[in-house]
Amino acid sequence: MITVRNRSELLAALRMSAAKATESVAFVPTMGALHDGHLSLVRDAVQTGSIVVASIFVNPLQFGPNEDLAAYPRTEASDAALLKTAGCDVLYLPTVDDIYPLEFSTKVTASAELSACLCGATREPGHFDGVTTVVARLFGLVQPNSAWFGEKDWQQLQVIRRMASDIFPRIEIRSGATVRDSDGLALSSRNARLSDSDKKAAVAIPHSLSFARELAVAGEQPAEIERLSKSKLSEAGFSVDYFEIRDSSTLEPMSHLDETNSKEARAFVAARIGHTRLIDNAALIGPNPQLEEALAPKSSMAS
Ligand code: PAF
Repeated sequence: MITVRNRSELLAALRMSAAKATESVAFVPTMGALHDGHLSLVRDAVQTGSIVVASIFVNPLQFGPNEDLAAYPRTEASDAALLKTAGCDVLYLPTVDDIYPLEFSTKVTASAELSACLCGATREPGHFDGVTTVVARLFGLVQPNSAWFGEKDWQQLQVIRRMASDIFPRIEIRSGATVRDSDGLALSSRNARLSDSDKKAAVAIPHSLSFARELAVAGEQPAEIERLSKSKLSEAGFSVDYFEIRDSSTLEPMSHLDETNSKEARAFVAARIGHTRLIDNAALIGPNPQLEEALAPKSSMAS
């Protein structure tokens, strides 16, 4: 794996890699503090036979003034070791000046329909514009053929898909299923900041999604599913930013579920415990082996 720290080193590394068997580039942008969710994207990208480029850049533009930019975990050395083992070819570790030089003055505005709701309505303003701006900038530098994002950030994935189809139609956006801990909690760089007791309580998030799925199968309608799921989370000690049922692709609210639309329905949750805000989501109907296996009652080894 070649590690590069600025644009000119990146371009040189891509030229060297392109001289190898393939000219196709698969890109996995990250903010570091890597976990198996990121690494599974890298492994999937490696399977395509492309040159795999990963970036680690904690993007100040997507954090509001009162959000956790300074506290965001930074674990560069262990991240690099993990990426190498996963088969990454080029690690791009730019500085803020490399991504946003002094003369940089363009912003990419995220689709209003996709970004105004959920995290767009509950985080500080400008979060998704910060994401689309940095991803567009990184796409311009890396010029990938495909780019890989995790489904845990489902709203982000839809926002990026729209941005790419509007501006970078030749880049294929690929996604990877949410990777979960053995207790069902979705892997997230922010989990590292949970205290032991908050981590135990945090399983209420996947449980709320599983509960919502059961209610949907039993015929409950969105307003009731949202109300009951929120109250489960509050009982577990969470302050709930939102628990909402929306259309998976348009992110429009769904007020009624029936056979014609329920396959599109997705539950979205964001909730805070201690100083940590966690998000997760799941389709309301259909198999979800990652969630179901993690939450299935564990058989006891005792006879
Ligand atoms: O999901 C993330 O880690 C970030 O939002 C991304 C896509 C790398 C942009 O900074």
